Amino acid sequence: MSNYNITMKFECVPNIHKLIISVPEVAEKAQPGQFVLVMVDKKSERIPLTLADWDVEAGTITLFIQEVGLSTTKVAFMEAGDSFFSIVGPLGKPAYVDTFGTVVLGGGCFGIGAIYSIAKKLKKLNNYVITIIEARNDCLLYLENEFQSISDEVIVTTSDGSKGSKGHIYDVLDTMIAEGRKIDHIKIVGCNIMMSKVSALTKEKGSIPTYATVSSIMVDGTGMCGACRLTYDGKTKFACVDGPEFDAHKINWEELIQIRNTTYIQEETLSLQTFSPQCLSLKKFMEKADEEELA
Ligand code: FES
Repeated sequence: MSNYNITMKFECVPNIHKLIISVPEVAEKAQPGQFVLVMVDKKSERIPLTLADWDVEAGTITLFIQEVGLSTTKVAFMEAGDSFFSIVGPLGKPAYVDTFGTVVLGGGCFGIGAIYSIAKKLKKLNNYVITIIEARNDCLLYLENEFQSISDEVIVTTSDGSKGSKGHIYDVLDTMIAEGRKIDHIKIVGCNIMMSKVSALTKEKGSIPTYATVSSIMVDGTGMCGACRLTYDGKTKFACVDGPEFDAHKINWEELIQIRNTTYIQEETLSLQTFSPQCLSLKKFMEKADEEELA
């Protein structure tokens, strides 16, 4: 059984961390688009994270994690050699991949890492892959070089225009559509607001098949708790078992953004305010002392 040990970790851009973790059981079965649920310690929240990459021989998985709340901040304070309390996966359905023709992949913030394994697979299936990566500014862009080797085109867009075109993924797509570029399939990963805007655009401009990986609050990851539910094509679906990738044009985005993802905002803010990294260090020290005493 793995001990979920971090073999490598660094902050690739401010607030986004790359982690390589030893979990042979997950690496062996992983498929593009699937995710894991990680717990930092036995009382921590379960965080759903898309598998960015994996190495079956080394028995490792690669995750990119963005600091947004208490649990992800705890991960930010972990170091190589530290272990997670648990990692469960691979979970969810693999992304829908095929030889579509020309595929546009859009990733923003944490979504840049999340589209990596999907881009690799789509390239292997002989698609013409156009990757769009988006960040607020050039300091927050990562994996650009890595995407060059698995994409036919890489387009960079930043909110402030500090690198690439000024704007967002939907602005780039809007231009591509206006120029008459052939697009057979679109996949997007990032915040729900960005994805809802892309969805609205591609629905309006000829219903170009668009698939979005929704980010949801998750608890059990097996379809039992209902935390990740969303309305899809008028029916209730669970992101953990029916997704996380869905046909973006059938998602009730308004409900997902307005209700589902803001449910615990107050609790999250409060728990983050009471978090102290010193407590985490002290806890680690005491756990280590306990283990040494037992040995
Ligand atoms: Fe519980 Fe999906 S996380 S139903």
